[in-house]
Amino acid sequence: MNILSRANKNREITIRPMVIDDMEQVRDVGQIAWSDLATQDIGRRFRYPKRSERLIKAYMAADPDGCLVAEIDGKIVGSAFCHIWGNVGWIGPLEVLPMNQNDGVGKALLGACEHHLSEKGCDVIGLETMSHLPKNLHFYLSSKYSPISLILVMEKQMMSKGTHPHFTEEIDISHLEHTLGDIARLGRSISPSLDYSSEVKITVERRMGHVLVSKREGKVVGLAILHTYQRDEESRYSSIKAVIVDPERSDQEEIFDSLLDRCEQISSSMGKDHILVRLSAESPTLYNHMLSRSYSLKGANIRMIKKGNYEENGIYQITSWAG
Ligand SMILES: CC(C)(COP(=O)(O)OP(=O)(O)OC[C@H]1O[C@@H](n2cnc3c(N)ncnc32)[C@H](O)[C@@H]1OP(=O)(O)O)[C@@H](O)C(=O)NCCC(=O)NCCS
Repeated sequence: MNILSRANKNREITIRPMVIDDMEQVRDVGQIAWSDLATQDIGRRFRYPKRSERLIKAYMAADPDGCLVAEIDGKIVGSAFCHIWGNVGWIGPLEVLPMNQNDGVGKALLGACEHHLSEKGCDVIGLETMSHLPKNLHFYLSSKYSPISLILVMEKQMMSKGTHPHFTEEIDISHLEHTLGDIARLGRSISPSLDYSSEVKITVERRMGHVLVSKREGKVVGLAILHTYQRDEESRYSSIKAVIVDPERSDQEEIFDSLLDRCEQISSSMGKDHILVRLSAESPTLYNHMLSRSYSLKGANIRMIKKGNYEENGIYQITSWAG
């Protein structure tokens, strides 16, 4: 099904949902676009590994019509992925082959993603991008996105062992359905439109990593999503997709630390070299807390939204819209 076509240098750009047969072309487009960007950014040749098939299949399973390709003359020249967390819709990654850039392919994909997320009922639409790249800033600002927060990228070398693992419980596939209601409630206490159920489902069902919950008196008061499976099985790092804590609790810091400890323990036991997190810079308390836990700052992205309002309650929250 073609969902959008428009002219590009007298050639038609077709945007359509991705199908499994597109896999190799989509992986090539991603590798070429990001390697080109990194090469320009650091001033020497750099080649990214291809995005893993498992990750692309997980995105396609979570939102089949939200994974899009752009075609010119029957060849895939760009791709984009939508994610729906409750009524929060975000876009990423989005990429276009270097030789087809600056001809409107990116904006055609972006517009199709926004259309899809609106159709799915998202009342917040946003994304994160690298704040130091004038092209990316122009691309989104001129598409009517507004910056809402700086997102810090922090990293920790894996050495230490955690100290509070007993408060956490791992969700396996047999407990998944019972827990999703509690996870949805916890998300909404952080931000009214936020629900991590779909991310939890793909992490468990597609074996992307581990989902941990923290309970007090039988109630879910904290959630962590750790991705140990990255671009490929052998990846040396793991990445924390989310740590969220009930903002009403007086022991938020303790719950947060117990979840983070467990993520670090799992990463260490899997032989990962380091662990990566992305978190909002809005709270200096959280930043300083992460420093005290031996995380160091590696970079920053910017979170931008086009539709709705998005704010988070509580200090001890790690959330990011990075694909
Ligand atoms: C970002 C990206 C998807 C844009 O795709 P694209 O097909 O080039 O996008 P478009 O042609 O629709 O729009 C590009 C815009 O940037 C502008 N632009 C190009 N180079 C620029 C620069 N150095 N500084 C500022 N603006 C620039 C173009 O003029 C155009 O703006 P306009 O529509 O107002 O004329 C593409 O560059 C890409 O794949 N980059 C690598 C991966 C990436 O960074 N993805 C985004 C991650 S959030």
